[in-house]
Amino acid sequence: MSKSFYVTTPIYYVNDAPHIGHAYTTIAADVLARYHRQLGEDVFFLTGTDEHGNPVARAAERRGLKPQEHADEMAEKFINLAALVNASNDFFIRTTDPGHVAAVQGFMQQLYDRGDIYLKSYKGLYCAACEAFYAEKDLIGGKCPDHGTVAEEVEEENYFFRLSQYRERLLKHYRDNPEFVRPRVRFNEASSFISAGLEDISISRAALKWGIPVPWDESQVVYVWVDALLNYITALEIGGEDADLSRFWPADYHLMAKDILKFHAVIWPALLLALGYDLPRHLFVHGYLLMGGHKMSKTRGNVLDPVDIIGRYGVDAFRFYCFREVAFGQDGIVSPEGFESRYNAELANDLGNLVSRTVAMIDKYHSGIIPESPAGQGAELAGPVTSGINDMQAAMAEVDLTGALETIWQIVRRVNGFVEEKKPWALARDGSRSSELAAVLCSLAEGIRLCALLLHSYMPGTSVEIMRRLGQPEEERDFSLEEAEWGGLLPGVSVTASSPLFPKFARE
Ligand code: ME8
Repeated sequence: MSKSFYVTTPIYYVNDAPHIGHAYTTIAADVLARYHRQLGEDVFFLTGTDEHGNPVARAAERRGLKPQEHADEMAEKFINLAALVNASNDFFIRTTDPGHVAAVQGFMQQLYDRGDIYLKSYKGLYCAACEAFYAEKDLIGGKCPDHGTVAEEVEEENYFFRLSQYRERLLKHYRDNPEFVRPRVRFNEASSFISAGLEDISISRAALKWGIPVPWDESQVVYVWVDALLNYITALEIGGEDADLSRFWPADYHLMAKDILKFHAVIWPALLLALGYDLPRHLFVHGYLLMGGHKMSKTRGNVLDPVDIIGRYGVDAFRFYCFREVAFGQDGIVSPEGFESRYNAELANDLGNLVSRTVAMIDKYHSGIIPESPAGQGAELAGPVTSGINDMQAAMAEVDLTGALETIWQIVRRVNGFVEEKKPWALARDGSRSSELAAVLCSLAEGIRLCALLLHSYMPGTSVEIMRRLGQPEEERDFSLEEAEWGGLLPGVSVTASSPLFPKFARE
């Protein structure tokens, strides 16, 4: 049986429309999912929406809708966004799904029966946007550090989860699994947070109606974060034919930005320990996409619409830009100017021209047929391309999505350099050098085929189109990384010249 690979995105809040930050995490998870499928693994890729809680109820109220009506409309936008960015998710979970609701109630009851939950009156400073209580010292001038809104004093009788009792076991897990949270800086942040001491947390809300009723006390609803985190397990129970808890749990990677690290690095593993589940293998915490120096967020209102960008430049260009411009794991600024310059320099010139030139030369100098590589010739590119393939795979194993893309780009540049060095147009003028010319054309086609294969997880449509132009097989199975070896090119087939892959964008 092939190895399994389970990757998740956070489930996004439906209090507002999706933006580029959501697209970013979803694409990152998609790149990993596609790459692991190329490795021949059995992949389950999950994304979805987090639909309960106060901000959603408030957003619905502002629009004069019932929370469920609002959630249905917004969830559709997130489903459409996943399709728009060409995400190959195996399931889309919604926390209002009755199957999820029932499963969460079952988990709550288990925690209660085990004695992990107790009732207590609680007073604290609460940020409604985070749905979290804050200690005074963690607020900035009384305001939420993430949302910049004033934290309100709230007093309620709530059910509490004995988080404090899991401190030692969590610390041991961190000690024994130094790769549990990546990158390292986030691991350190999470483990020092746990070391500093954990307090029990309130896991129900009394004043709120828009949530999952606590099964033994329907006057309260389940804290939205407990409801949300459990999705990673419930999806494997309700997520259709391919979902399978015993096959896919523990998750290989939960992807997220640092805003929700504590929930995933502390509360989630403690809940899993309490429920008797293995812990996820890794959390990967990427940075923020920033615009004009601020984290984009719905609450701040400074969002950039991915629909707009993709409409103008195409989905693959957008997917490419996300990992090219901002080192995966770090914060970085994205801008229309930055996008345009990468698009023109790297997609239109480096990659697009390479493909067009190569196809045009095979057309002109070899009647449009990919030549057989004459024995013993033309293997100069094999060494650098092969080591590039190895570097790319090593980077992917570390979830270094930017480093892996950079190694592919080094191959693209190397193949472009080969054109300049070999000058096929000069070889074509000298009849005695036809076998040298054939070897060069064959090497170019092979270099490009391998680039397309490696690019498949980042730019699936482009990768298929390149294979089509080179007359190579283009079914999904043909993108197996077993084919990522120099010499796998199918010769004797016709190439297809076509319009530029990435037409240059002139400034308006
Ligand atoms: O936190 N840059 O949902 P959410 C990069 N429902 N990534 C960004 C981003 C940005 N500027 N803005 C958002 C929630 N993201 C909860 C999650 S999970 C059990 C519950 C991405 O809609 C990033 O992945 O606020 C971040 O962690 C997530 O969206 C937050 O989405």
